Amino acid sequence: MVAVAILAAGRGSRMKSELPKVLHTLSGRSLLDRVLDSCSFVHPSRCLVVVGFAAEQVKQALNAREGTEFVEQRQQLGTGHALQQLLSPLEGYTGDLLVLNGDVPLLRPETLQKLLQTHQTYKNAATFLTAQLEHPKGYGRVFCDQNNFVQKIIEDRDCTPAQKENPRINAGVYCFNWDKLAPVLPKLSAENEQQEYYLTDVFPLLNRVMAVDVEDNSEIMGINDRKQLAAANDTLQARVKEAGMEAGATLINPDSITIEETVKLQPDVVIEPQTHLRGNTVIASGSRIGPGSLIENSRIGENVTVQYSVISDSVVKGGSQIGPYAHIRGKVELGEACSIGNFVELKNSQMGAHSNAKHLSYLGDTTTGEQVNIACGTITANYDGVSKHRTQISDRTKTGCNSVLVAPVTLGEDVTVAAGSVITKDVSDDTLAIARSRQVVKKGWRLKRH
Ligand code: UD1
Ligand code: CA
Repeated sequence: MVAVAILAAGRGSRMKSELPKVLHTLSGRSLLDRVLDSCSFVHPSRCLVVVGFAAEQVKQALNAREGTEFVEQRQQLGTGHALQQLLSPLEGYTGDLLVLNGDVPLLRPETLQKLLQTHQTYKNAATFLTAQLEHPKGYGRVFCDQNNFVQKIIEDRDCTPAQKENPRINAGVYCFNWDKLAPVLPKLSAENEQQEYYLTDVFPLLNRVMAVDVEDNSEIMGINDRKQLAAANDTLQARVKEAGMEAGATLINPDSITIEETVKLQPDVVIEPQTHLRGNTVIASGSRIGPGSLIENSRIGENVTVQYSVISDSVVKGGSQIGPYAHIRGKVELGEACSIGNFVELKNSQMGAHSNAKHLSYLGDTTTGEQVNIACGTITANYDGVSKHRTQISDRTKTGCNSVLVAPVTLGEDVTVAAGSVITKDVSDDTLAIARSRQVVKKGWRLKRH
């Protein structure tokens, strides 16, 4: 049986922020969310989050996560003091306790699995993750014998210059046998440079304690300031892009691209420079996205091209061409082989297959049939100042340049709208609608003025 505790009560003063450190985000998700996800595979019997600084805010941020228990640490007197707060909620618990710092967001589940396995195989009182770092500054240094049994951990600021030379650091990820840990927790003292109760001081009181080196040092990076947050973001991006390329996507100039790990790229997708893919987005085979595009929570079908455009919360079916400079948002559904061009905005609209809106249009709350042509400058007037209204345009209809469709309004099939028309009434099938004043021609008018 494994319970999980996340230490998330600190302010994170080195972030210089009003927001508690653990709620800072990395590629769209908070540090705390990431830590919780990294250990969800163990299906913990209990999941406790120690909160303190801005406790309400942290609790609210985790609102949607079922089964999370919050343990309040009213004063943040150190990581050892944070663990002491678990004594009462875990009274009577017997089993292993996985303890993670809330600011170590890049752990892979496989690494935690290995930690748990080692802990259980060796029947240790405690086992924790370590790394050998070229620049160990800031981390607690771990002193072990040749069998990886731990003698002590000394915090960076409490180290002598000689001790600072030790490259082996504490990652802040621990597995304890709760039966062994609980009796020693009350014995901690705060005699150190920070006058804090250090979690790491329990180790000399436990028998046996083992250190497990991680294979990939980037996993255990702790976030204490904005520079580390940026570095962690780079690490995460490198991982996601590597996975995308392994799945068969081509990334051109990957450094200029950002992709959240929730995005799915199918084989033979090409992502061009300066493109950003976020949220629950899927790009199907053969599509070419970018340069210069942002796609969020959208499904892009096969063989679609998107250039210099923004697409959010929408579906684009196969063979469509988007952009340059299109904006598609708010639950748009585009059928097969549509063409949406320069400075066209679509909002909450559906468009049938083989339909086009190639230049300078706004279509809001509009349902369009198949093979419709929206001419340059067609605008739906969908808002009367109080409510939004829908426009319906049926198959094969063609709007005229610079026409305004005042919703609610319906254009039937095979309708042609004359250029410059303001359409306020429904138009039936197979009709030409002209809604503008006739041109008046006054011959010699300039001369007659005098
Ligand atoms: C800690 C370890 C250090 C390790 C490093 C790894 C201790 C004493 N030191 O140092 O050996 O190398 O992590 O990243 O544990 N927290 C609380 N309550 C508190 C204080 C902290 O919940 O009273 C939480 C923080 O919110 C944070 C985590 O504990 O999520 C770690 O605290 P932090 O102050 O960042 O510890 P480090 O100095 O980084
Ligand atoms: Ca830290």
